[in-house]
Amino acid sequence: MEKYRVGVIGGTGMVGQRFVTLLEGHPWFELKVIAASPRSAGKTYEEAVGERWAMEVPIPHQARGLVVRDAQADAARIAEEVDFVFSAVDMKRAEILALEERYARLECPVVSNNSAHRWTPDVPMVVPEVNPEHLRVIEAQRKRLGVRRGLIAVKSNCSIQSYVPALHPLRAFGLERVLACTYQAISGAGKTFETWPEMVDNVIPYIGGEEEKSEQEPLKVWGRVENGVIVKAQAPDITAQCIRVPVINGHTAAVFVTFREKPSMEEMKALWASYRGRPQELGLPTAPEHFLHYFEEPDRPQTRLDRDLGGGMTVSIGRLRPDTQYDYKFVCLSHNTLRGAAGGAVELAELLCAEGYISR
Ligand SMILES: NC(=O)c1ccc[n+]([C@@H]2O[C@H](COP(=O)([O-])OP(=O)(O)OC[C@H]3O[C@@H](n4cnc5c(N)ncnc54)[C@H](OP(=O)(O)O)[C@@H]3O)[C@@H](O)[C@H]2O)c1
Repeated sequence: MEKYRVGVIGGTGMVGQRFVTLLEGHPWFELKVIAASPRSAGKTYEEAVGERWAMEVPIPHQARGLVVRDAQADAARIAEEVDFVFSAVDMKRAEILALEERYARLECPVVSNNSAHRWTPDVPMVVPEVNPEHLRVIEAQRKRLGVRRGLIAVKSNCSIQSYVPALHPLRAFGLERVLACTYQAISGAGKTFETWPEMVDNVIPYIGGEEEKSEQEPLKVWGRVENGVIVKAQAPDITAQCIRVPVINGHTAAVFVTFREKPSMEEMKALWASYRGRPQELGLPTAPEHFLHYFEEPDRPQTRLDRDLGGGMTVSIGRLRPDTQYDYKFVCLSHNTLRGAAGGAVELAELLCAEGYISR
């Protein structure tokens, strides 16, 4: 099979490095272009990244010698050389909005890890196993942008991907109220213990903007496409507290939930065990065999033991039990830089290709 030619905008950064790593040996995608700021442009990828390389594996051979391009100045040429780009730039919100729209208007689809376009009404924010039907809104987005093949699709914030997957199949019982406390890894801030030594033996009870995202983004993900935009879901009521903990990778969530029609614990576990999303039906390369895994052991899931389940794409659940104030409580875990960031974006790109939104 001829592969899709792929670019990574912001490829020298933490998330960009994860994209470059995931694209090595990908059966459908071939990394052709890496772009970043003028500071990196003109250098080989290896030179541009230098000491910043933070992945657990060496820089992929194919990427080492690629000459980094200027994401803004070279946009028109890049758009001609690739079939789509992943975007992971760290710039001001207005600049990201403009840059991603520029690529889309150049007829280059953009699959973004950034938050800038998450609330653009005709931009789908997709967890591929949860709301693949939102891709339909792209037709309206293309009309607005006046393009034929350009598009912008985004993934959601990493925090919600620790609990929305587990709650999703339970919507059949009418989710009324959700309380989620997240315990988030330092890689979610683009850091390691070397670059953030203050996090060793420490907990910081504040992650700027995270609680608002954790309460609001699930409502867009569970919304519906209507008249060319995504209309937010009205329920459930969600309240969240987000806390930074001294963990390298893996966001944990302690979840409390009340239903309109309270299911039994057996019914909840059966739904989790049998849940299959569109990526599993399509057999997408990055889709885990099991989207959700329930642990019966009382001390699981644990970040170090379980974050890599399903190649870091399976969401783990455990400790389901009745609660005194809500119907039930349980604990979830997802790998924040794989399921929650670059892995989720790669799976979204695979879905866009499989469903015919991105062509070669
Ligand atoms: N880290 C995470 O786990 C995480 C999780 C969720 C979301 N995000 C979001 O993902 C994005 C990237 O985060 P990150 O942690 O990877 O950031 P990062 O490590 O600081 O990397 C930023 C990237 O953006 C590029 N860049 C900066 N200014 C630019 C400009 N004017 N033109 C073109 N490229 C420019 C940088 O290029 P140079 O190397 O040339 O400077 C670099 O490639 C951010 O929007 C962040 O909020 C990150």
